[in-house]
Amino acid sequence: MKKNLVFSVVLLLAGCVHGFAQKEKIVIETQNAAIVFSVKGDGKLYQTYFGEKLMGADAYAQLSEEGKESYIPAGTNNLFEPAIRMVHADGNPSLELKYESSKTDKQGDVSHTSIVLKDNKYPVTVVLHFESYFKENTFKEWTEITQNEKKEVQLTRYASSMLHFSANDYWLTQFHGDWAAEMRIQESKLTNGIKTIDTKLGTRADMYATPTFFLALNKQSDETSGEVIAGTLAWTGNFQFTFDVDEKNDLRVISGINPFASEYSLKSGEVFTTPAFIFTYSHNGKGEASRSLHAWARNYGVLDGNGSRLTLLNNWESTQFDFDEKKLSGLFADTKKLGVDMFLLDDGWFANKYPRNDDHAGLGDWQENKAKLPNGLGHLVKDAESKGVKFGIWIEPEMVNPKSELYEKHPDWILKLPNRDEDYFRNQLVLDLTNPVVKEFVYNMVDDMMTKNPGIAYIKWDCNRMMTNTYSPYLKNKQSHVYIEYVRSLYSILERLRQKYPTLPIMLCSGGGGRTDYGALKYFTEFWPSDNTNAVDRVFIQWGYSYFFPANTIANHITSWGKQSLKYRTDVAMMGRLGYDIDVEKMSPDEFTFSQDAVKNYKRLSDVIWHGNLYKLVSPYDESRAVLMFSNDAKTKAVVFAYNLNFLYGKRWEAVKLQGLDPAKKYTIKETNLYPGHNSSVPENGKTFTGDYLMKVGINPSSDRELTSTVIEITEAP
Ligand code: DGJ
Repeated sequence: MKKNLVFSVVLLLAGCVHGFAQKEKIVIETQNAAIVFSVKGDGKLYQTYFGEKLMGADAYAQLSEEGKESYIPAGTNNLFEPAIRMVHADGNPSLELKYESSKTDKQGDVSHTSIVLKDNKYPVTVVLHFESYFKENTFKEWTEITQNEKKEVQLTRYASSMLHFSANDYWLTQFHGDWAAEMRIQESKLTNGIKTIDTKLGTRADMYATPTFFLALNKQSDETSGEVIAGTLAWTGNFQFTFDVDEKNDLRVISGINPFASEYSLKSGEVFTTPAFIFTYSHNGKGEASRSLHAWARNYGVLDGNGSRLTLLNNWESTQFDFDEKKLSGLFADTKKLGVDMFLLDDGWFANKYPRNDDHAGLGDWQENKAKLPNGLGHLVKDAESKGVKFGIWIEPEMVNPKSELYEKHPDWILKLPNRDEDYFRNQLVLDLTNPVVKEFVYNMVDDMMTKNPGIAYIKWDCNRMMTNTYSPYLKNKQSHVYIEYVRSLYSILERLRQKYPTLPIMLCSGGGGRTDYGALKYFTEFWPSDNTNAVDRVFIQWGYSYFFPANTIANHITSWGKQSLKYRTDVAMMGRLGYDIDVEKMSPDEFTFSQDAVKNYKRLSDVIWHGNLYKLVSPYDESRAVLMFSNDAKTKAVVFAYNLNFLYGKRWEAVKLQGLDPAKKYTIKETNLYPGHNSSVPENGKTFTGDYLMKVGINPSSDRELTSTVIEITEAP
């Protein structure tokens, strides 16, 4: 398409204003959206536009010069929430940031613009970085802060991004929850003053609040209409989103690391780089915004985002800590019979002096437990391979039980307050990753395990507690750096591991959805969204996550939680990366046959689920059912999932209009994943329709019984 050839960043120069040599306009564009900055007569940078892309570069020159200062510092004339606050070495608590220069580089789909701002009295530089992903309609923004004063300065606020909006109303959609109740959707109208979404949990930071939001302008948006921004912070620690509506009803949205208890002493010459705020704009509702983020994530945000994923059988729900080589050998055989790719050995395989037989002991002692695994992990890898399946393993390398040899040997390797009792969560404490020796220990633990057992095909990296009584013995008088340095250290461990093991699939897990962010997903192939695998709860949890994360990153396991049929649980798990965590031996013959077929069906459909475009057709928040579909880019293949929650007697489901098909193509409708002995009750089953018909009239995928589900395969007809 010709449009793609247009440079996505345009610099326009206009005439002199108020004695300034030139007035500069910086336009950052994607396929559909644009952000425009102007330098005004006072030498400061202003955001003068953020919205739908305008046709022709000339149009941007016509935009009003009225705007809001782009990255507002505290201490001078700012009256609302600032983006940055610095206390200089001489105690002066102010900044005044003037535009200095900007430049843009373009490499294929991605343009990078850096805008340099400088204080005119103090040697402080702030560089605003923007990456725009043209095809994916996504922006990434982060900031670099440097100072060259003689001594340290104190940074007490350091946003990744400040964006301004001017609309009649603002509707915020946030995603809240708790363990096993992740990603509940709440939508509210912003009122004057500040609304903050944040976390102070350090590790497992997203347990109560996920670093994601939608902001709709003027009116509430739905899947297909409304002006909406989707945003997320790529940071695996404390985050903060601030929505500040002023007296004129203008809104500033500030995103970044939570400055709570995190005053940062910036040394002379040091560069403070904030995490990236990733966002997209759509004037066609949340569905398009999600698809943009998914495309960005697959192409740039997630490790091996366009690759395939391993289906698996996990043993956590069926055995917990109670297993030995013999039992595992049986499970390898079950894995093969079921037809999935890999067996994943969960918690409980390690520690000898304090064996890991429950969650009270052993964390930190990463030697195979001799009673359970006398022949070590190497034997398990070989045994699994001999049965024709891969072998994956659970670890929780950032943690320690007080009942462990690690704790006995290195009490100073642990985050804990002096003069206070230790504060446990799941009977464990967090290791002090800010300490380079501990960092080395964690890296070596994973590296040694992989070096000794190169056949390990997958890792589940868990993190089962947040930080409390947070204090680093290593950081001494720099305690306000601990939340930041912890995450930086974690990233440097992961970076090193990824250099050595660039393609190894690793699941990001944190007692369920305690870690779900694009800061980490750069190093991980998928995440565990929740320990709650009750399929009805899961419909809501997966619905929430799937707004921001593509299906191949969302690991869904079929377990014994919930009373729904195995078919229902399977159909629900299929909308992401399918796995099992269930006692296969307890399945009835029909259940087992169904599951074997389901795995085959999933393998046939997984390409469109993992790499296709997601359309949410009926929300479980609107009706007592959820209907969604994926279609591939070529519009030759699609799959519809329909999950009934309840069904009120006498009620009638309306037909569901499909999306993402080619109106001119013909498609055959086929219900798949049917339970043995059951026939399809979908009226359109077996028939052929045009895409036009399917998108204007629709299909009837839902039965009139509660807790039933359908999977419908849609294939272009010859
Ligand atoms: C929490 C995870 O979410 C579970 O899946 C399981 O791995 C346990 N930890 C093991 O301790």
